[in-house]
Amino acid sequence: MRTQVAIIGAGPAGLTLSHLLARHGIDSVVLEHRDRDYVERRVRAGVLEQGTADLLRASGVGARMDREGLVHHGIELRFSHQRHRIPLSDLTGGRTVMIYGQQEVVKDLIQTRLAAGGQILFGAEALALDGLTSAAPVVRYQQNGERRELRCDVVAGCDGFHGVSRAAIPAGVLTVYDHEYPFAWLGILAAVPPSTGELIYAHSERGFALHSLRSPEISRLYLQCRPDEELANWPDARIWDELRRRFATDDGWTLADGPILEKGITPMRGFVAEPMRYGRLLLAGDAAHIVPPTGAKGLNLAVGDARVLAEALIAWYRSGSADLLDAYSATCLRRVWRAQHFAWWMTTMLHIQERESDIERRLRLAQLDYVASSTAAATTLAENYVGLTSI
Ligand code: APR
Ligand code: PHB
Repeated sequence: MRTQVAIIGAGPAGLTLSHLLARHGIDSVVLEHRDRDYVERRVRAGVLEQGTADLLRASGVGARMDREGLVHHGIELRFSHQRHRIPLSDLTGGRTVMIYGQQEVVKDLIQTRLAAGGQILFGAEALALDGLTSAAPVVRYQQNGERRELRCDVVAGCDGFHGVSRAAIPAGVLTVYDHEYPFAWLGILAAVPPSTGELIYAHSERGFALHSLRSPEISRLYLQCRPDEELANWPDARIWDELRRRFATDDGWTLADGPILEKGITPMRGFVAEPMRYGRLLLAGDAAHIVPPTGAKGLNLAVGDARVLAEALIAWYRSGSADLLDAYSATCLRRVWRAQHFAWWMTTMLHIQERESDIERRLRLAQLDYVASSTAAATTLAENYVGLTSI
């Protein structure tokens, strides 16, 4: 089989790329290891930057998002038992975020691609990439127990952190930055109306907690835990009890609980591999970088990479100019490092460390107090949260 762009991975990065390319008549085949049901059900992030929502809308996959997604104009910071609203829209000239689950974005993209005759091969695991420095790369993959080849002009490695693409780059080519944060998030999806209209990022002496949502009936909540924490130690009642303590305020705010539909533990890591290109292989999304989830940037970076890559490939096919492709890695990395810093800043400001000094604790509270009381500091948070337009 042959195509123009072989895309490995049907996550937000791979699917957005395939969709944008198709709109410009460029052919791609997406190889996805898992089955369709699995990728459509996997519960992940849920905050779309204004620019991400705009891109989906402008490219014709925003209709259900606009019907079912929730537009938010602010978030709450909660610490020292007090509530502080960060008015995102007021601070950013009217920009907003959209609350819409990543798996809903994935569903919409899959449906749109298949309806347009696009090829997504589910249950197709890429095993090896060959000829990456030639003009005719080959992806070797396996589907239904059979080994096959996909020949192409370029390979887009959109196969997430554990995929084969980054691993196919010879040793010594990449510079890797990797930081494992000394905590994780225990996340739940619960069948209970959210106790808040806007997301709450809470810092308490017991650690961080986040109240997010998916719909008027479904809440998504997280609490900071140890990286080696076991789910078995967290029966539902303990989770709700711990969340209640971390969200407690002086004004008697209450957290409603309900049946927990899903639970999981996510380790927190900051990772960047650069450059995001090796010959005819271009990495996008989690394959090249991971951010801790505190800044809600992972999905937005994946879609952002896909947009930059699509533009570069469209220009290359149309005019033969490789200028944008040559700039791809640097263009993306500038935004990736901004997001990496923002995620690190939010994470250190909101989490507690196991052995921290009194001065570290007080510095963190001083930082939170500054963000909650200074328009300049709050604007820094707000413009990064809704997505910078200049980077
Ligand atoms: N062959 C084919 N597909 C593969 C292979 C392989 N060898 N290895 C991994 N995949 C698939 C995975 O099954 C997954 O569906 O690649 C896909 C990668 O998708 P994501 O992990 O969603 O990565 P990405 O598209 O970069 O989106 C990043 O996901 O982890 C979150 O916070 C992150 O929101 C961000 C987003
Ligand atoms: C989520 O809704 O899953 C979510 C929201 C905000 C974050 C991370 C995750 O920072």
